[in-house]
Amino acid sequence: MRILGIESSCDETAMSIVSKNDGVIVIEKSLVASQIDLHKIYGGVVPEVAAREHVSAIFPMLLELGVSRDGHEIDAIAVTAGPGLVAALRIGVELAKTLAWLWNKPLVATNHLEGHVYSVWSQTPTPAFPALCLLVSGGHTELFLMRDHGQYEPIGMTRDDAAGEAFDKVAKLLGLGYPGGPAISKMALDGNPNAIAFPRPMLESGDFDFSFSGLKTAVRVYLQSNLSLPAGRQSDLSDISNLSNIPDIAASFQQAVVDILTIKTLSAVQRFAPKSVILSGGVSANRALRESLSNELAKQFPDVTFHAPDLSLSGDNAVMIAIAGLHRAEQKDFVDPLTLQANPNMRLL
Ligand code: KG4
Ligand code: ZN
Repeated sequence: MRILGIESSCDETAMSIVSKNDGVIVIEKSLVASQIDLHKIYGGVVPEVAAREHVSAIFPMLLELGVSRDGHEIDAIAVTAGPGLVAALRIGVELAKTLAWLWNKPLVATNHLEGHVYSVWSQTPTPAFPALCLLVSGGHTELFLMRDHGQYEPIGMTRDDAAGEAFDKVAKLLGLGYPGGPAISKMALDGNPNAIAFPRPMLESGDFDFSFSGLKTAVRVYLQSNLSLPAGRQSDLSDISNLSNIPDIAASFQQAVVDILTIKTLSAVQRFAPKSVILSGGVSANRALRESLSNELAKQFPDVTFHAPDLSLSGDNAVMIAIAGLHRAEQKDFVDPLTLQANPNMRLL
């Protein structure tokens, strides 16, 4: 089967062609047009700007992908139907509906989060079930158990900010710009992760939930108290640029996030005894997190395999949407191209 994947849930327009023959997944084509440079100016994603950019990018990308006018080489279409920004999602969804109807091909409505999980199915060996998934992106931080394809049992989630959101907000406090994750991890390379003892919230909570907003506040309080500002005056970016230990703050914050995610995931491994652990979502690009999780897993549970996407597939892309779509297509889990609607709040769990 050969499937066309389409993704437009946030600030990346992406398309792919992925095939599966005799159980082997082959990425035939993958295109991603990132809007990051545009949103950087605003310090975050502006939904209206994102939607307009998707409109301009999507048809040139379809041409660049090189599919034939009648789509005869494509067996099915998979599109991200949610969650995400509704105006952005709609661009991809409407294109997918039109192509599916014109070409008379089956259409799969893919969940963006399921896409992130399936990014690791582009590699061999694929994860064995049950698989424990840690999904860390800009909008989500979730731990869940996958007993089989398409089955998700919630274990824990964030009670406030997502891990990626915490990286983005702390980067803003430090004047490092958007997106925060890559900026903080780069800055952290020159810092000491043990320089500042930021808190590790929720480690004693007795469940598998997370909370990152207190950690972000701890960074804010640290900055405020180390800038010797007059009482009552909030710090601004010109004050921050006078600080000489930004790399230490970045490294210590990153270490706190990495410790929380690693410790909670490992205790979920202890409790649920999975055969594999899957790390996915934009934050999975973080090297410190990958190393911490894979090293601790190898040390404490050597029989459990560790899977994280190739760096080219850790952020938003359409290969993961096509792979997740392939699994749904194999179950004949199709939707009607005339009635499918983008669902910004689509749930996985
Ligand atoms: O999965 P993703 O591309 O988009 C969503 O579905 O949300 O995730 C984006 C998030 C952003 O918050 C970004 O700062 C974070 O992933 N991120 C990172 C790194 N690269 C991207 N966070 C930490 N370290 C990184 N290297
Ligand atoms: Zn994503």
